[in-house]
Amino acid sequence: MDARIVLLPGDGIGPEVIAEGRKTLEAIAGRFGHQFVFESHPIGGCAIDEFGTALPNSTVAACRTAQGILLGAVGGPKWDDPTAKTRPEAGLLGIRKALGLFANLRPIQVLPQLVAASPLKAEIVSGTDILFFRELTGGLYFGKSAREKDASGEVAYNTMIYSTHEVERIVRLAAQAARGRKKKVTSVDKANVLEVSRLWRQVVERVMKEEFPDVAYEHVLVDAMAMYLISKPTKFDVVVTENMFGDILTDEGSMLPGSLGLLPSASLGDPGPGLYEPIHGSAPDIAGKGIANPLATILAAAMLLRHSLNLETEAAAIEAAVNKVLSDGHRTADLMGTSAPKSTTEMGDLVVAALRAA
Ligand code: IPM
Ligand code: MN
Repeated sequence: MDARIVLLPGDGIGPEVIAEGRKTLEAIAGRFGHQFVFESHPIGGCAIDEFGTALPNSTVAACRTAQGILLGAVGGPKWDDPTAKTRPEAGLLGIRKALGLFANLRPIQVLPQLVAASPLKAEIVSGTDILFFRELTGGLYFGKSAREKDASGEVAYNTMIYSTHEVERIVRLAAQAARGRKKKVTSVDKANVLEVSRLWRQVVERVMKEEFPDVAYEHVLVDAMAMYLISKPTKFDVVVTENMFGDILTDEGSMLPGSLGLLPSASLGDPGPGLYEPIHGSAPDIAGKGIANPLATILAAAMLLRHSLNLETEAAAIEAAVNKVLSDGHRTADLMGTSAPKSTTEMGDLVVAALRAA
């Protein structure tokens, strides 16, 4: 297969982890006889510095015609001034919107080898395997917002807005995924307070009853979900929720396996290329030190192969290689209880070696 893959390294540890993702994809190309062409483009803070915008048009254009996009991370203290004209995060939000990437898949699995790295007790966390569907192009992130002067000084607001159509399409994707898993969907909302959640809940009811009678579903309020995620994480299979709730819950969920550095995500639209990224941020505190965990990005590359290139065998090969490296006891510094941590590149090399040996 020939594929053009756009790399968006971004800021902080982004370039370091993307280098390992690329290395892994190159190893896959070599082993399975594919031709992957890579192109790097700026996004986030580095793009602000160079072009005055977090999302240059040339980056969007390159992404539109790519078969898959692998992104590192954006942001950092250098660009954190609240009065700045633009922020690195605008690049990420902009590319999601420009490509219509409404579905953000965030798998959270606690691998048996890593149960000890979890801050939770093994008997609670063992066997956790949740697939989050976070709606990604609506809600508070993209609703009407403003800052205005009033008699007291200033007011600011953001509005949470969802249309029936936006809820339907994400719920359908979640329910379809549940069919290939344990056939259970948990929809998270705040219907006891928010009108937008009451619409969300009604749409979920209708879609599930009419189109997915074979899939069980439940509604859980977001505050309760925050609690259940750490008290009974194994009770969940597919979870679907709106943008901001999904942002917060998946960061919480990312602690179940012990580190943000392990979790990949896929942002999918229809049609068009998917965008794949680790769910961790740019980690400015450790940028440039060569100690970031590249596994989330490497697993994001596996998701790219699976969802955008339809290369299931290749995706599974990466996942098996990551499993092997962890089973062999190799750890980066972010994983609790690590005594002799591997560097970012060493970890990438170990994955590539495991791929070659398999
Ligand atoms: C994420 C990030 C982004 C988000 C930020 C960087 C804009 O936290 O992908 O979860 O809030 O969506
Ligand atoms: Mn987030």
